[in-house]
Amino acid sequence: MLDKYKIYSFPDFKKARIKINAPFSRRNYQKGEDDLSLLKGKKVYIRTYGCQANIRDEEIMLGILKEFGMKETSKKEEADLVILNTCAVRENAEEKVYGEIGSLKPIKKLHPQMKIALCGCMALEPPIVEKILKTYPHIDFMFGTHDIAKLPIFLKRAFIDDEKFVDILSSSGEVVENLPSTRKEKFKAFVNIMYGCDKFCSYCIVPSTRGRERSRALRDVLKECEQLVKDGYLDITLLGQNVNAYGKDLKDGTNFALLLEEVAKTGVKRLRFITSHPFDFDDALIEVIAKYDNIMKYIHLPVQSGSSKVLKAMNRRYDREGYLSLVRKIKEKIPHVALSSDIIVGFPGESEEDFLDTLSLVEEVEYASLFTFIYSPRPFTPATIMQNQISDEIKHERFNRLSKTSEKIIERLSTAMVGKTYDVLIEEVSKKDPRFVSGYTEEFKLVHVEGDASLIGKIIKVKIIASHTYSLIGERVDG
Ligand code: 5AD
Ligand code: SF4
Repeated sequence: MLDKYKIYSFPDFKKARIKINAPFSRRNYQKGEDDLSLLKGKKVYIRTYGCQANIRDEEIMLGILKEFGMKETSKKEEADLVILNTCAVRENAEEKVYGEIGSLKPIKKLHPQMKIALCGCMALEPPIVEKILKTYPHIDFMFGTHDIAKLPIFLKRAFIDDEKFVDILSSSGEVVENLPSTRKEKFKAFVNIMYGCDKFCSYCIVPSTRGRERSRALRDVLKECEQLVKDGYLDITLLGQNVNAYGKDLKDGTNFALLLEEVAKTGVKRLRFITSHPFDFDDALIEVIAKYDNIMKYIHLPVQSGSSKVLKAMNRRYDREGYLSLVRKIKEKIPHVALSSDIIVGFPGESEEDFLDTLSLVEEVEYASLFTFIYSPRPFTPATIMQNQISDEIKHERFNRLSKTSEKIIERLSTAMVGKTYDVLIEEVSKKDPRFVSGYTEEFKLVHVEGDASLIGKIIKVKIIASHTYSLIGERVDG
Protein backbone atom coordinates (compact mmCIF):
# COMPACT_ATOMS: atom_id res chain seq x y z
CA MET A 1 0.00 0.00 0.00
CA LEU A 2 2.89 2.32 0.91
CA ASP A 3 3.96 3.01 -2.66
CA LYS A 4 0.54 4.45 -3.54
CA TYR A 5 1.30 7.54 -1.48
CA LYS A 6 3.62 10.34 -2.46
CA ILE A 7 5.64 11.43 0.59
CA TYR A 8 6.38 15.18 0.48
CA SER A 9 7.39 15.35 4.08
CA PHE A 10 7.12 12.85 6.92
CA PRO A 11 6.82 13.82 10.60
CA ASP A 12 9.83 13.46 12.86
CA PHE A 13 9.29 13.74 16.62
CA LYS A 14 12.92 14.60 17.35
CA LYS A 15 12.81 17.58 14.98
CA ALA A 16 9.48 18.65 16.44
CA ARG A 17 10.93 19.07 19.92
CA ILE A 18 14.00 21.13 18.93
CA LYS A 19 14.07 24.65 20.35
CA ILE A 20 14.34 27.39 17.72
CA ASN A 21 16.18 30.54 18.70
CA ALA A 22 15.99 32.35 15.36
CA PRO A 23 13.14 34.88 15.01
CA PHE A 24 10.03 33.52 13.35
CA SER A 25 9.16 34.82 9.89
CA ARG A 26 5.79 36.33 9.08
CA ARG A 27 3.87 36.15 5.83
CA ASN A 28 0.38 36.68 4.52
CA TYR A 29 -1.78 33.78 3.40
CA GLN A 30 -1.75 33.14 -0.38
CA LYS A 31 -4.72 31.56 -2.10
CA GLY A 32 -2.43 30.42 -4.95
CA GLU A 33 -2.63 30.56 -8.74
CA ASP A 34 -4.14 27.15 -9.41
CA ASP A 35 -7.55 26.99 -11.03
CA LEU A 36 -9.66 25.18 -8.45
CA SER A 37 -13.03 26.11 -9.93
CA LEU A 38 -13.98 22.42 -9.99
CA LEU A 39 -14.38 22.65 -6.22
CA LYS A 40 -17.27 25.09 -6.50
CA GLY A 41 -20.41 23.61 -4.92
CA LYS A 42 -18.56 20.56 -3.58
CA LYS A 43 -19.34 19.58 0.00
CA VAL A 44 -16.99 19.25 2.95
CA TYR A 45 -17.58 17.42 6.22
CA ILE A 46 -15.13 18.37 8.99
CA ARG A 47 -14.98 16.43 12.24
CA THR A 48 -12.89 18.14 14.91
CA TYR A 49 -11.62 16.53 18.11
CA GLY A 50 -9.90 18.14 21.07
CA CYS A 51 -9.21 21.65 22.22
CA GLN A 52 -10.05 25.20 21.15
CA ALA A 53 -6.87 25.37 19.04
CA ASN A 54 -8.31 22.61 16.86
CA ILE A 55 -11.74 24.26 16.73
CA ARG A 56 -10.08 27.49 15.58
CA ASP A 57 -8.12 25.50 12.95
CA GLU A 58 -11.43 24.11 11.71
CA GLU A 59 -12.80 27.65 11.32
CA ILE A 60 -9.73 28.60 9.28
CA MET A 61 -9.93 25.50 7.08
CA LEU A 62 -13.61 26.20 6.46
CA GLY A 63 -12.75 29.79 5.57
CA ILE A 64 -10.20 28.60 3.00
CA LEU A 65 -12.55 25.97 1.54
CA LYS A 66 -15.42 28.47 1.26
CA GLU A 67 -13.17 30.82 -0.72
CA PHE A 68 -13.14 28.08 -3.35
CA GLY A 69 -16.93 27.83 -3.27
CA MET A 70 -17.13 24.69 -1.16
CA LYS A 71 -20.08 24.19 1.21
CA GLU A 72 -20.18 22.61 4.64
CA THR A 73 -22.30 19.53 5.28
CA SER A 74 -23.12 17.71 8.50
CA LYS A 75 -23.68 14.42 6.61
CA LYS A 76 -20.50 12.55 5.82
CA GLU A 77 -22.36 10.35 3.29
CA GLU A 78 -22.88 13.32 0.96
CA ALA A 79 -19.40 14.84 1.35
CA ASP A 80 -16.88 15.21 -1.48
CA LEU A 81 -14.21 15.94 1.09
CA VAL A 82 -14.00 14.59 4.65
CA ILE A 83 -11.48 16.14 7.02
CA LEU A 84 -10.65 14.48 10.35
CA ASN A 85 -9.07 17.18 12.49
CA THR A 86 -7.53 15.08 15.25
CA CYS A 87 -6.33 15.36 18.86
CA ALA A 88 -3.42 13.45 20.44
CA VAL A 89 -3.46 14.70 24.02
CA ARG A 90 -4.71 11.40 25.47
CA GLU A 91 -4.99 7.91 24.03
CA ASN A 92 -8.79 7.85 24.23
CA ALA A 93 -8.94 10.90 21.90
CA GLU A 94 -7.02 8.84 19.34
CA GLU A 95 -9.26 5.82 19.78
CA LYS A 96 -12.29 7.93 18.83
CA VAL A 97 -10.55 8.95 15.61
CA TYR A 98 -9.82 5.32 14.69
CA GLY A 99 -13.53 4.59 15.21
CA GLU A 100 -14.42 7.39 12.80
CA ILE A 101 -11.81 6.24 10.24
CA GLY A 102 -13.38 2.76 10.35
CA SER A 103 -16.89 4.13 9.85
CA LEU A 104 -15.73 5.96 6.71
CA LYS A 105 -14.51 2.82 4.94
CA PRO A 106 -17.93 1.54 3.70
CA ILE A 107 -18.98 5.10 2.82
CA LYS A 108 -15.90 5.59 0.65
CA LYS A 109 -16.62 2.23 -1.01
CA LEU A 110 -20.05 3.54 -2.07
CA HIS A 111 -18.61 6.95 -3.06
CA PRO A 112 -15.11 6.24 -4.39
CA GLN A 113 -14.71 9.83 -5.63
CA MET A 114 -14.81 11.06 -2.00
CA LYS A 115 -11.47 12.36 -0.64
CA ILE A 116 -10.62 11.75 3.00
CA ALA A 117 -7.96 13.79 4.79
CA LEU A 118 -6.49 13.41 8.26
CA CYS A 119 -4.90 16.43 9.93
CA GLY A 120 -4.34 17.88 13.40
CA CYS A 121 -2.15 16.62 16.21
CA MET A 122 -2.24 12.87 15.44
CA ALA A 123 -0.67 13.57 12.06
CA LEU A 124 2.50 14.70 13.83
CA GLU A 125 3.02 11.24 15.36
CA PRO A 126 5.23 9.12 13.05
CA PRO A 127 3.92 5.71 14.28
CA ILE A 128 0.34 6.82 13.67
CA VAL A 129 1.06 8.02 10.14
CA GLU A 130 2.80 4.70 9.40
CA LYS A 131 -0.17 2.75 10.80
CA ILE A 132 -2.63 4.70 8.67
CA LEU A 133 -0.57 4.20 5.52
CA LYS A 134 -0.48 0.45 6.13
CA THR A 135 -3.93 -0.18 7.54
CA TYR A 136 -6.31 2.49 6.30
CA PRO A 137 -5.68 3.08 2.58
CA HIS A 138 -9.04 4.84 2.24
CA ILE A 139 -7.37 7.91 3.79
CA ASP A 140 -6.23 9.99 0.78
CA PHE A 141 -3.97 12.56 2.31
CA MET A 142 -2.48 13.72 5.59
CA PHE A 143 -1.18 17.09 6.71
CA GLY A 144 -0.24 18.54 10.10
CA THR A 145 -0.92 21.47 12.38
CA HIS A 146 1.81 23.56 10.67
CA ASP A 147 0.42 23.02 7.17
CA ILE A 148 -3.10 24.46 7.22
CA ALA A 149 -2.21 27.51 5.08
CA LYS A 150 -1.12 25.06 2.36
CA LEU A 151 -4.65 23.68 2.02
CA PRO A 152 -5.10 25.13 -1.53
CA ILE A 153 -2.02 23.15 -2.69
CA PHE A 154 -3.38 20.00 -1.04
CA LEU A 155 -6.77 20.46 -2.75
CA LYS A 156 -5.08 20.69 -6.15
CA ARG A 157 -3.06 17.54 -5.54
CA ALA A 158 -6.09 15.59 -4.30
CA PHE A 159 -8.84 16.78 -6.67
CA ILE A 160 -6.93 17.70 -9.86
CA ASP A 161 -3.84 15.47 -9.81
CA ASP A 162 -5.72 12.63 -8.07
CA GLU A 163 -2.71 12.11 -5.80
CA LYS A 164 -2.57 10.33 -2.45
CA PHE A 165 0.06 11.93 -0.25
CA VAL A 166 1.64 12.74 3.11
CA ASP A 167 2.82 16.33 3.66
CA ILE A 168 3.46 16.88 7.36
CA LEU A 169 5.96 19.44 8.62
CA SER A 170 7.40 18.65 12.06
CA SER A 171 8.02 22.23 13.04
CA SER A 172 7.28 25.68 11.82
CA GLY A 173 9.38 28.79 11.75
CA GLU A 174 6.61 31.10 10.61
CA VAL A 175 3.41 32.87 11.54
CA VAL A 176 0.82 33.23 8.77
CA GLU A 177 -1.52 36.22 8.82
CA ASN A 178 -4.69 37.15 6.90
CA LEU A 179 -6.03 33.60 7.02
CA PRO A 180 -9.65 33.36 5.91
CA SER A 181 -12.02 32.04 8.53
CA THR A 182 -15.65 31.02 8.95
CA ARG A 183 -16.52 31.44 12.60
CA LYS A 184 -18.78 28.84 14.18
CA GLU A 185 -20.50 31.22 16.58
CA LYS A 186 -22.15 34.60 16.14
CA PHE A 187 -21.41 36.31 19.45
CA LYS A 188 -18.40 34.44 20.79
CA ALA A 189 -15.07 34.46 18.99
CA PHE A 190 -11.72 32.82 19.61
CA VAL A 191 -8.59 34.68 18.57
CA ASN A 192 -5.18 32.99 18.36
CA ILE A 193 -2.54 35.15 19.96
CA MET A 194 0.25 32.59 19.78
CA TYR A 195 0.94 29.09 18.57
CA GLY A 196 2.87 26.21 20.11
CA CYS A 197 4.29 25.57 23.57
CA ASP A 198 7.84 25.55 24.96
CA LYS A 199 7.01 24.36 28.46
CA PHE A 200 7.63 20.65 27.83
CA CYS A 201 5.62 19.31 30.77
CA SER A 202 6.84 15.73 31.06
CA TYR A 203 3.45 14.13 30.28
CA CYS A 204 2.45 16.35 27.38
CA ILE A 205 2.62 15.71 23.65
CA VAL A 206 1.59 19.25 22.66
CA PRO A 207 5.12 20.72 22.30
CA SER A 208 5.72 17.98 19.68
CA THR A 209 2.44 18.40 17.84
CA ARG A 210 2.15 22.20 17.86
CA GLY A 211 5.78 23.25 17.84
CA ARG A 212 7.63 26.14 19.41
CA GLU A 213 5.99 29.23 20.92
CA ARG A 214 5.30 31.75 18.16
CA SER A 215 3.46 34.98 18.95
CA ARG A 216 1.36 36.94 16.52
CA ALA A 217 2.23 40.63 16.33
CA LEU A 218 0.23 42.75 18.79
CA ARG A 219 -1.13 44.95 15.98
CA ASP A 220 -2.41 41.88 14.06
CA VAL A 221 -4.24 40.52 17.12
CA LEU A 222 -5.65 43.95 17.84
CA LYS A 223 -6.82 44.45 14.25
CA GLU A 224 -8.68 41.12 14.38
CA CYS A 225 -10.32 41.97 17.73
CA GLU A 226 -11.36 45.46 16.56
CA GLN A 227 -13.00 43.94 13.50
CA LEU A 228 -14.82 41.38 15.66
CA VAL A 229 -16.21 44.16 17.87
CA LYS A 230 -17.39 46.03 14.74
CA ASP A 231 -19.01 42.81 13.51
CA GLY A 232 -21.05 42.57 16.72
CA TYR A 233 -19.09 39.92 18.64
CA LEU A 234 -19.65 40.29 22.39
CA ASP A 235 -17.31 37.71 23.86
CA ILE A 236 -13.69 37.28 22.76
CA THR A 237 -11.37 34.59 24.08
CA LEU A 238 -7.65 35.02 23.44
CA LEU A 239 -6.15 31.64 22.65
CA GLY A 240 -2.78 30.02 23.24
CA GLN A 241 -1.40 26.86 24.88
CA ASN A 242 0.29 29.16 27.39
CA VAL A 243 -0.92 32.73 26.88
CA ASN A 244 1.34 34.16 29.59
CA ALA A 245 4.34 33.41 27.39
CA TYR A 246 2.88 35.73 24.73
CA GLY A 247 5.45 38.12 23.28
CA LYS A 248 8.59 36.44 24.64
CA ASP A 249 9.74 35.45 21.15
CA LEU A 250 9.00 38.93 19.75
CA LYS A 251 11.81 40.31 21.93
CA ASP A 252 10.43 43.85 21.75
CA GLY A 253 9.06 44.14 25.28
CA THR A 254 5.55 43.04 24.30
CA ASN A 255 3.93 40.80 26.89
CA PHE A 256 0.54 39.31 27.66
CA ALA A 257 -0.53 41.94 30.22
CA LEU A 258 0.09 44.63 27.60
CA LEU A 259 -1.83 42.78 24.90
CA LEU A 260 -4.75 42.03 27.22
CA GLU A 261 -5.01 45.68 28.18
CA GLU A 262 -4.99 46.80 24.52
CA VAL A 263 -7.72 44.30 23.63
CA ALA A 264 -9.79 45.38 26.67
CA LYS A 265 -9.63 48.95 25.34
CA THR A 266 -11.43 47.88 22.13
CA GLY A 267 -14.53 47.92 24.33
CA VAL A 268 -15.48 44.29 23.69
CA LYS A 269 -18.18 43.39 26.22
CA ARG A 270 -16.51 40.24 27.50
CA LEU A 271 -12.84 39.36 27.26
CA ARG A 272 -11.38 36.02 28.33
CA PHE A 273 -8.18 34.05 27.76
CA ILE A 274 -7.09 30.41 27.82
CA THR A 275 -4.79 28.86 28.93
CA SER A 276 -2.61 30.42 31.64
CA HIS A 277 0.43 28.72 33.05
CA PRO A 278 0.89 29.52 36.77
CA PHE A 279 4.66 29.91 36.18
CA ASP A 280 4.35 33.08 34.07
CA PHE A 281 1.34 34.64 35.82
CA ASP A 282 2.76 37.98 36.99
CA ASP A 283 1.51 40.93 39.06
CA ALA A 284 1.11 43.16 35.98
CA LEU A 285 -1.36 40.65 34.55
CA ILE A 286 -3.35 40.47 37.81
CA GLU A 287 -3.56 44.27 37.84
CA VAL A 288 -4.86 44.45 34.28
CA ILE A 289 -7.53 41.81 34.99
CA ALA A 290 -8.60 43.70 38.12
CA LYS A 291 -8.64 47.10 36.35
CA TYR A 292 -10.96 46.40 33.40
CA ASP A 293 -14.62 45.54 33.95
CA ASN A 294 -14.81 43.87 30.56
CA ILE A 295 -12.07 41.35 31.42
CA MET A 296 -14.01 38.46 32.90
CA LYS A 297 -13.18 37.49 36.43
CA TYR A 298 -12.80 33.88 35.43
CA ILE A 299 -9.32 32.41 35.21
CA HIS A 300 -8.44 28.95 34.00
CA LEU A 301 -5.24 28.20 35.91
CA PRO A 302 -4.31 24.53 35.52
CA VAL A 303 -2.52 23.14 38.55
CA GLN A 304 -2.22 19.51 37.31
CA SER A 305 -1.40 18.18 40.82
CA GLY A 306 -1.44 19.35 44.44
CA SER A 307 1.78 17.53 45.33
CA SER A 308 5.11 19.35 45.00
CA LYS A 309 6.84 16.04 44.35
CA VAL A 310 4.53 15.22 41.44
CA LEU A 311 4.71 18.79 40.10
CA LYS A 312 8.49 18.48 39.97
CA ALA A 313 8.27 15.20 38.07
CA MET A 314 5.77 16.86 35.72
CA ASN A 315 8.29 19.67 35.06
CA ARG A 316 5.69 22.29 35.95
CA ARG A 317 8.18 24.87 37.32
CA TYR A 318 6.15 25.71 40.45
CA ASP A 319 5.35 23.87 43.65
CA ARG A 320 2.20 23.54 45.74
CA GLU A 321 3.05 26.55 47.91
CA GLY A 322 3.93 28.72 44.91
CA TYR A 323 0.61 27.90 43.27
CA LEU A 324 -1.38 28.51 46.44
CA SER A 325 0.29 31.85 47.10
CA LEU A 326 -0.48 32.90 43.52
CA VAL A 327 -4.12 31.92 44.09
CA ARG A 328 -4.23 33.89 47.35
CA LYS A 329 -2.82 36.94 45.57
CA ILE A 330 -5.34 36.65 42.73
CA LYS A 331 -8.25 36.29 45.17
CA GLU A 332 -7.09 39.28 47.18
CA LYS A 333 -6.67 41.57 44.14
CA ILE A 334 -9.68 40.29 42.21
CA PRO A 335 -12.60 39.75 44.59
CA HIS A 336 -15.29 37.28 43.36
CA VAL A 337 -12.85 35.72 40.89
CA ALA A 338 -13.87 32.26 39.67
CA LEU A 339 -10.98 29.86 39.18
CA SER A 340 -10.92 26.68 37.16
CA SER A 341 -8.25 24.07 36.63
CA ASP A 342 -7.01 20.93 34.89
CA ILE A 343 -5.83 18.05 37.05
CA ILE A 344 -4.19 14.79 36.03
CA VAL A 345 -4.63 11.78 38.33
CA GLY A 346 -2.41 8.72 38.27
CA PHE A 347 0.79 10.40 37.08
CA PRO A 348 3.74 7.95 37.45
CA GLY A 349 4.85 7.75 41.07
CA GLU A 350 1.74 9.50 42.47
CA SER A 351 1.26 8.01 45.95
CA GLU A 352 -1.93 8.08 48.02
CA GLU A 353 -0.34 10.90 50.02
CA ASP A 354 0.36 12.90 46.83
CA PHE A 355 -3.23 12.37 45.75
CA LEU A 356 -4.50 13.55 49.15
CA ASP A 357 -2.42 16.71 48.59
CA THR A 358 -4.34 17.23 45.36
CA LEU A 359 -7.69 16.79 47.14
CA SER A 360 -6.72 19.27 49.85
CA LEU A 361 -5.52 21.81 47.27
CA VAL A 362 -8.84 21.52 45.43
CA GLU A 363 -10.66 22.13 48.74
CA GLU A 364 -8.49 25.13 49.51
CA VAL A 365 -8.74 26.83 46.10
CA GLU A 366 -12.48 26.05 45.68
CA TYR A 367 -12.50 25.71 41.90
CA ALA A 368 -15.69 26.89 40.21
CA SER A 369 -15.05 24.24 37.58
CA LEU A 370 -12.53 21.46 37.23
CA PHE A 371 -11.40 19.32 34.29
CA THR A 372 -10.09 16.02 35.58
CA PHE A 373 -8.00 13.66 33.45
CA ILE A 374 -6.62 10.18 33.90
CA TYR A 375 -2.91 10.14 33.07
CA SER A 376 -2.35 8.70 29.62
CA PRO A 377 1.20 7.79 28.52
CA ARG A 378 2.07 9.63 25.30
CA PRO A 379 4.80 8.60 22.87
CA PHE A 380 8.17 10.34 23.15
CA THR A 381 7.25 12.13 26.39
CA PRO A 382 9.57 11.64 29.40
CA ALA A 383 6.74 10.48 31.70
CA THR A 384 6.02 7.46 29.48
CA ILE A 385 9.27 5.79 30.49
CA MET A 386 9.12 6.79 34.17
CA GLN A 387 9.10 4.00 36.75
CA ASN A 388 6.08 3.42 38.99
CA GLN A 389 3.33 3.74 36.45
CA ILE A 390 -0.01 3.63 38.29
CA SER A 391 -2.53 0.84 37.71
CA ASP A 392 -5.76 1.59 35.85
CA GLU A 393 -7.74 0.56 38.92
CA ILE A 394 -6.07 3.15 41.16
CA LYS A 395 -6.28 5.81 38.44
CA HIS A 396 -10.05 5.30 38.12
CA GLU A 397 -10.57 5.19 41.85
CA ARG A 398 -8.70 8.50 42.30
CA PHE A 399 -10.52 10.03 39.35
CA ASN A 400 -13.86 9.23 41.01
CA ARG A 401 -12.79 10.59 44.39
CA LEU A 402 -11.53 13.81 42.84
CA SER A 403 -14.71 14.24 40.77
CA LYS A 404 -16.85 13.83 43.91
CA THR A 405 -14.76 16.36 45.88
CA SER A 406 -14.97 18.87 43.05
CA GLU A 407 -18.71 18.31 42.59
CA LYS A 408 -19.41 19.08 46.25
CA ILE A 409 -17.48 22.37 45.99
CA ILE A 410 -19.25 23.36 42.79
CA GLU A 411 -22.60 22.51 44.39
CA ARG A 412 -21.73 24.74 47.34
CA LEU A 413 -20.62 27.64 45.12
CA SER A 414 -23.68 27.30 42.87
CA THR A 415 -26.08 27.25 45.83
CA ALA A 416 -24.45 30.45 47.12
CA MET A 417 -25.39 32.14 43.82
CA VAL A 418 -29.13 31.63 44.45
CA GLY A 419 -30.87 34.93 45.17
CA LYS A 420 -28.14 37.01 43.50
CA THR A 421 -28.36 38.78 40.14
CA TYR A 422 -25.93 38.21 37.26
CA ASP A 423 -25.39 39.43 33.70
CA VAL A 424 -26.07 36.55 31.32
CA LEU A 425 -25.14 36.49 27.63
CA ILE A 426 -27.91 34.48 25.99
CA GLU A 427 -26.57 32.08 23.36
CA GLU A 428 -29.35 29.70 22.37
CA VAL A 429 -32.81 28.30 22.97
CA SER A 430 -32.43 25.62 25.64
CA LYS A 431 -31.86 22.15 24.21
CA LYS A 432 -33.97 20.54 26.94
CA ASP A 433 -36.94 22.91 27.10
CA PRO A 434 -37.84 25.32 24.27
CA ARG A 435 -39.57 27.70 26.72
CA PHE A 436 -36.11 28.52 28.09
CA VAL A 437 -33.02 30.20 26.68
CA SER A 438 -29.49 29.48 27.90
CA GLY A 439 -26.34 31.50 28.34
CA TYR A 440 -23.35 32.19 30.54
CA THR A 441 -22.59 34.55 33.40
CA GLU A 442 -19.31 36.45 33.42
CA GLU A 443 -17.93 33.68 35.68
CA PHE A 444 -18.80 31.14 32.99
CA LYS A 445 -21.74 29.59 34.79
CA LEU A 446 -24.50 28.15 32.59
CA VAL A 447 -27.91 29.71 33.30
CA HIS A 448 -31.35 28.77 31.91
CA VAL A 449 -34.01 31.47 31.93
CA GLU A 450 -37.54 31.67 30.54
CA GLY A 451 -37.55 33.50 27.21
CA ASP A 452 -37.50 33.16 23.44
CA ALA A 453 -35.04 33.35 20.55
CA SER A 454 -35.29 37.17 20.43
CA LEU A 455 -32.97 37.24 23.47
CA ILE A 456 -30.13 35.46 21.67
CA GLY A 457 -27.05 37.69 21.52
CA LYS A 458 -28.27 39.95 24.33
CA ILE A 459 -26.77 40.40 27.79
CA ILE A 460 -29.65 40.39 30.30
CA LYS A 461 -29.89 40.67 34.08
CA VAL A 462 -30.96 37.41 35.68
CA LYS A 463 -31.76 36.59 39.28
CA ILE A 464 -30.82 33.02 40.17
CA ILE A 465 -33.73 31.10 41.68
CA ALA A 466 -32.40 27.52 41.73
CA SER A 467 -29.17 25.59 41.39
CA HIS A 468 -28.54 22.26 39.64
CA THR A 469 -24.80 22.21 40.50
CA TYR A 470 -23.48 22.52 36.91
CA SER A 471 -26.23 24.88 35.74
CA LEU A 472 -28.56 27.42 37.29
CA ILE A 473 -32.18 28.48 36.77
CA GLY A 474 -32.91 32.19 36.80
CA GLU A 475 -35.56 34.78 36.06
CA ARG A 476 -35.17 38.07 34.21
CA VAL A 477 -35.10 41.13 36.37
CA ASP A 478 -34.67 43.78 33.67
CA GLY A 479 -38.07 43.32 32.00
N1 5AD B 1 -2.58 12.47 30.14
C1 5AD B 1 -3.66 13.02 30.74
N2 5AD B 1 -3.98 14.31 30.64
C2 5AD B 1 -3.16 15.10 29.92
N3 5AD B 1 -3.19 16.42 29.65
C3 5AD B 1 -2.14 16.72 28.86
N4 5AD B 1 -1.42 15.62 28.61
C4 5AD B 1 -2.02 14.59 29.27
C5 5AD B 1 -1.73 13.22 29.42
N5 5AD B 1 -0.66 12.66 28.84
C6 5AD B 1 -4.21 17.32 30.22
C7 5AD B 1 -3.58 18.43 31.06
C8 5AD B 1 -3.77 19.64 30.20
C9 5AD B 1 -5.07 19.30 29.49
C10 5AD B 1 -5.35 20.09 28.27
O1 5AD B 1 -4.91 17.95 29.17
O2 5AD B 1 -4.32 18.54 32.25
O3 5AD B 1 -3.87 20.84 30.94
FE1 SF4 C 1 1.27 20.74 27.50
FE2 SF4 C 1 2.45 21.90 29.61
FE3 SF4 C 1 2.46 23.15 27.21
FE4 SF4 C 1 0.16 22.94 28.60
S1 SF4 C 1 2.02 24.06 29.25
S2 SF4 C 1 0.45 22.51 26.37
S3 SF4 C 1 0.36 20.93 29.57
S4 SF4 C 1 3.48 21.21 27.69
